[in-house]
Amino acid sequence: MKLVVAVIRPESLNAVLEALFRTNVAGLTISRVQGHGGEIERVETYRGTTVKMELTEKVRLDIGVSNHFVEPTVNAIMAAARTGDVGDGKIFVLPVERVYRIRTGEEDRAAVTPVGVPSD
Ligand SMILES: Nc1ncnc2c1ncn2[C@@H]1O[C@H](COP(=O)(O)OP(=O)(O)OP(=O)(O)O)[C@@H](O)[C@H]1O
Ligand SMILES: [Mg+2]
Repeated sequence: MKLVVAVIRPESLNAVLEALFRTNVAGLTISRVQGHGGEIERVETYRGTTVKMELTEKVRLDIGVSNHFVEPTVNAIMAAARTGDVGDGKIFVLPVERVYRIRTGEEDRAAVTPVGVPSD
């Protein structure tokens, strides 16, 4: 079980969602976030130039998947979110200790498999 966390440009969200849908991703969480990706903003003041950490609007996707699903999920996001310009975003893959589906009490792989689809 892994949690794929992707931080992408808001403009790429529709393309990424479409690509994930085609990859049969069954569930995800989306949040609007502010992020910093190393870019530096120079602000002119009367005493000289100060440097401020630049924050930009991004969208964060949290997608819980079983292990064999990590690669297709990452590939779908990567292909749909890449423009080639600085700031396209980041993808983190985190280990997940446990997942529960609240309605049924199912755990782990069964909990991230769409209802009605065998988990093997
Ligand atoms: N090390 C990090 N930890 C957590 N979040 C990060 C990290 N690096 C980037 N992010 C998040 O990803 C967003 C996009 O980052 P960005 O695309 O600038 O990454 P990058 O590695 O600097 O690539 P690029 O060279 O294209 O700028 C940031 O605004 C921030 O929300
Ligand atoms: Mg950057």
